[in-house]
Amino acid sequence: MAITATETETTAPGAFGPAAALSCRECGERYDLAPRFACEFCFGPLEVAYEFGSVTREAIQSGPNNIWRYAGLLPVPGNVAELPNMNPGLTPLVRADRLAAELGMRSLHVKDDSANPTHSFKDRVVAMAVEAARTFGFRTLSCSSTGNLAGAVGAASARAGFRSCVFIPAGLEEGKIVMAAVYGGQVVAIDGSYDDVNRFCSELIGDPAGEDWGFVNVNLRPYYAEGSKTLAYEIAEQLGWKLPEQIIVPIASGSQLTKIDKGFRELVELSLVEDRPYKVFGAQATGCSPVAAAYEEGHDVIQPVKPDTIAKSLAIGNPADGPYVLDVCRRTGGAVARVDDAAVVDSISLLARTEGVFAETAGGVTTGVLRKLLDEGSLDPAAETVVLNTGDGLKTLNAVEAGVTATIKPSLDVFKEAGLF
Ligand SMILES: Cc1ncc(COP(=O)(O)O)c(C=O)c1O
Ligand SMILES: [Zn+2]
Repeated sequence: MAITATETETTAPGAFGPAAALSCRECGERYDLAPRFACEFCFGPLEVAYEFGSVTREAIQSGPNNIWRYAGLLPVPGNVAELPNMNPGLTPLVRADRLAAELGMRSLHVKDDSANPTHSFKDRVVAMAVEAARTFGFRTLSCSSTGNLAGAVGAASARAGFRSCVFIPAGLEEGKIVMAAVYGGQVVAIDGSYDDVNRFCSELIGDPAGEDWGFVNVNLRPYYAEGSKTLAYEIAEQLGWKLPEQIIVPIASGSQLTKIDKGFRELVELSLVEDRPYKVFGAQATGCSPVAAAYEEGHDVIQPVKPDTIAKSLAIGNPADGPYVLDVCRRTGGAVARVDDAAVVDSISLLARTEGVFAETAGGVTTGVLRKLLDEGSLDPAAETVVLNTGDGLKTLNAVEAGVTATIKPSLDVFKEAGLF
C-alpha cells in the first residue's frame, strides 16, 4: 500500500525541487519524500520542509504568468511549467476603492481567485498534487470534496492524463456537481456530510484496491497543501513586494490559512519582502464555525459540529487544520470570526455591486467577516487589507436573488412609461 512507502517508493533527486523532507508538525520527526501524511510516532500531520536555493525577485518576475514563477519555492521539479497541467494562478488583486469607501477603509484589495481555470483556489493545490502523483506513479486521482476540489481534480486529471474518481456529499450546488462531472471522471455522492465523505475515503485508502490511487487531500496532502502558499507569494508580489497588514481568509479545513502564513514567513526568511507585522483573520459561516467558537471561548481544542449553512464549500465540521489556524491567528494578532447566512448573501451583493466581483458563498463569508470585524473595531480601517474571494458566484447561483429589473414590450414608449430611462 502506497501510504506506507518503502525506500524504493521514494523518488528521484530533483523531482521535488527545493523540498528536502516531510516533517511532523507536532514532534518535528523527519521523513523521506514519499506518499505519507501522518507521523509514525505521534500521528501528527506531515508537511514539506525545504532547503531553498537562491530565489530572487528578478527570477520570479521573469518566470511564467502562473504559479510556476514560484517553482523554486514549491515541491515541484524545475521543468514543471513544461508538463501538462492547468497552469493556475496570478489571479487579479483587485484594488477595491469603492468597497473601501463604503466601509470607511483606507486601502483594500480583493484577491479574486475565481479567475483560476476551474474558478476556485483549488486549482493551486491540485497542481501540486498532480506533480506528486506523477512522481509516485499513481494512476487515479481522487479526493473528498465540498465541491470545488472535485472540479479541480476532474479538470487536472483530464489535462494530465489520470483517471479520476471524486467523492462529494450529496446535496451540493448543481454548478459544482456539473463542474466535477463534465471532465469525464467518476463523481460519487455520499449520503452524508463532508465529514462522512472523509471518513469513507480513509477506509478506501486502507484497501488494497486503492493502491495506485492518489487522494490529493489525504495521502498527497503534504504536497497538495503547499499550493496555497502561492496565494501569499502573489499577494506580496502584486502589492509591490510587500506583505499586507491584514488578510481575511475563509476556513474549511483551515489548510489554506495556515499555508498563506507559511508563504509570508518564507518570503521574509528569503529577504524577498521586508519583515513587517501582518494579522491573519479567519472567516467562517455561523452554521459551520467550530474554529470561530474555539477562538471566542479561548479553547485550543476544536469541538466538531454538524454543518448547516449555505456556504457549502466551507462546510467541514471537523477541520483538520483547526488548531493550527488558532495558532496563526493568535500569534499574528488576528482573530477568527463568523457571520450568518443572511450576512453572507448581503456581502455577495455588496462585493458585486461595488467591485464587479461575483463571489461564491465563501467570498460572501470573507467579505461579511470583513464588515463585521470593522464594525466591532477589531480590524484597523487604516491598515492595508486583503480579503480573499476563493470561488466564483456562478457556482452558487441559488444563494443570491438577482433578476431582471422589468420585462417590457420592445417599445421606447413602454420603456419610458416604466420610468426606466
Ligand atoms: C471556495 C473555497 N474557499 C475556501 C475553502 C477553504 O479551504 P481550506 O480547506 O484550505 O480551509 C474551500 C474549501 O473547500 C473552498 O472551496
Ligand atoms: Zn510526530
